[in-house]
Amino acid sequence: MRRWMIAGNWKMNKNIEESRKLAKDIVDFSKKVESGDIVIAPPFTALKEVYEVTRGSKVKLAAQNCHFEEKGAYTGEVSLPMLKDVGCTHVIIGHSERRKYFSESDNIVNKKIKATLKWEVAPILCVGETEEERDTGITEYVVGTQIKKALKGIEFSEKLVIAYEPVWAIGTGKNATPQQAQEVHKFIRDVLRSIYGEKGGNLLILYGGSVTPDNIGDLISMEDVDGVLVGGASLKSDSFIAIIEKTLELK
Ligand code: 13P
Repeated sequence: MRRWMIAGNWKMNKNIEESRKLAKDIVDFSKKVESGDIVIAPPFTALKEVYEVTRGSKVKLAAQNCHFEEKGAYTGEVSLPMLKDVGCTHVIIGHSERRKYFSESDNIVNKKIKATLKWEVAPILCVGETEEERDTGITEYVVGTQIKKALKGIEFSEKLVIAYEPVWAIGTGKNATPQQAQEVHKFIRDVLRSIYGEKGGNLLILYGGSVTPDNIGDLISMEDVDGVLVGGASLKSDSFIAIIEKTLELK
């Protein structure tokens, strides 16, 4: 049985006080949770404060990005040892917003994944097609290529998590249907098996894109959907907790 994971990507939202409060609500709720993983990804500026709130609890801390070098003249960047220093166990890599707005290539994503595993931080690797790519019928080609390039030369690690986030579903209120998600998740699992053998098929695959308390039930019920990466609905404790509660009920 694969465990479930619910991750909240706060993106560029929340000041320190707001972050601390949201984290506290989630930590309080998490005391009732025994299985699965709850991960939150606040902005860099709030990581330390949120770590103080989550320390010793079930809630794990993620960064939203990192640099692949350990240190040096990379103005504005944050390295993996720095993220470890502040208590991060996870880091989101290759989010479509980074690919789109910051020209992050598959090659850079590959270097970042390599570095995360060297520093023993679990990468949440994001992949997904645009609306145009889906309409032209090349979803599997696009997602398969992103995964193969991201994982090129990288040894198997249980820490690796994949998040399927169709670009057209992010922040649009238009989530993938459970069937669409299942189809691509199954495809991703096959790609992971082709790279790593049977154990590749046991890696966690999350769905992301307009997940809400209303649609989580149908999505999480799909066989190959192990969890979700939530944006907008992770910014309020009520909706994020409702998503975890529904997952607990169904997984
Ligand atoms: P939304 O849930 O706001 O669509 O964002 C999804 C996402 O990008 C998570 O990384």
